[in-house]
Amino acid sequence: MKDKIIDILKNEKDYISGENISNRLGVTRAAVWKSIKRLEKDGYIIESKNKLGYRLNEMPDRLYPRELSPYLNTNIIGKQIVYFDEINSTNIYLKNYIKESDMHEGSIIVAETQTQGKGRLGRTWISPKYKGLYFSMLIMPNISLDNIGHITILFALAICKGIEEYTGEKFEIKWPNDILYKGKKVCGILTEISGEIDAIPHVIVGIGINVNSDIKDFDIDLMDMITSLKIILNKQLNRIELMACILNKMDEYYMKYINDNDFKSILKEYKNRLKILNKEVIIYMGKNKINGIATDIMNNGALQIRLPDGETKEYISGEISLNKFSFIKKDIN
Ligand code: BTN
Repeated sequence: MKDKIIDILKNEKDYISGENISNRLGVTRAAVWKSIKRLEKDGYIIESKNKLGYRLNEMPDRLYPRELSPYLNTNIIGKQIVYFDEINSTNIYLKNYIKESDMHEGSIIVAETQTQGKGRLGRTWISPKYKGLYFSMLIMPNISLDNIGHITILFALAICKGIEEYTGEKFEIKWPNDILYKGKKVCGILTEISGEIDAIPHVIVGIGINVNSDIKDFDIDLMDMITSLKIILNKQLNRIELMACILNKMDEYYMKYINDNDFKSILKEYKNRLKILNKEVIIYMGKNKINGIATDIMNNGALQIRLPDGETKEYISGEISLNKFSFIKKDIN
């Protein structure tokens, strides 16, 4: 009922009487009034005037599925969206939810804030309320676990392109799946696998984007390393439109991968956005760090590094940074 009332109010430029709404929906005026009160609680600003009725004055800045769905133009992604005002972590929720219920591929859990947002390598993902995009998506690709790195790569590329399309700015990817603007991180992706070995893997792709965060929302130690789209563009962004743009791109690239079996062209596009190729990097693997030159991304998504002794090695996961202190001897004239 709330959805139908909001549709009516959106289509009406001026006031519409409670009686008119109740006739259209075949419910009592009291029921209309109750739903209007609930919509106001959801953040819609609805003006009510004696004898004239109701008028929608302002939409809330919330990621309600009823607002997001009309923008989606997808085959699989976002057909089912579960919304939370607050949750521990959308990844944790989705993982538990898969076990309990019949979740479809492409289903999304979205939250306005997370109390235990998870980052890669055991880190925390700070999730200021109503300021970012924090969502997790379930996919079940019929691929071997050896190629699971494809998923990380294809969604990093799709999200990067979605953000670029919406903002008109160029972003870069840091292997495997951070999205940066002039070296500062705006988006992180946490991919987790759940389910039985030998069965089709259930992959949870958790995405965190700093959209309308201000500098004061960031941890003081991270200030030099992260940024938000609002800081970059110097304006508040519409999170619904941005999320829809990203989900549409994710669906487009996932379809390309699943239907056309086309990872080669995806990898080519991904490599074009990588800043590290042919540069000296440090790769951190737990407590170990390895120096080398990032030479390539392999067909399974692994990073190939040429070590100082000339040997090459491949890494499927880890954290890298550009090496500011070169280990290559330069000729001194
Ligand atoms: C990273 O460390 O870069 C990955 C960050 C991933 C954060 C997102 S926010 C939505 C989803 N739920 C989580 O708990 N984490 C991911």
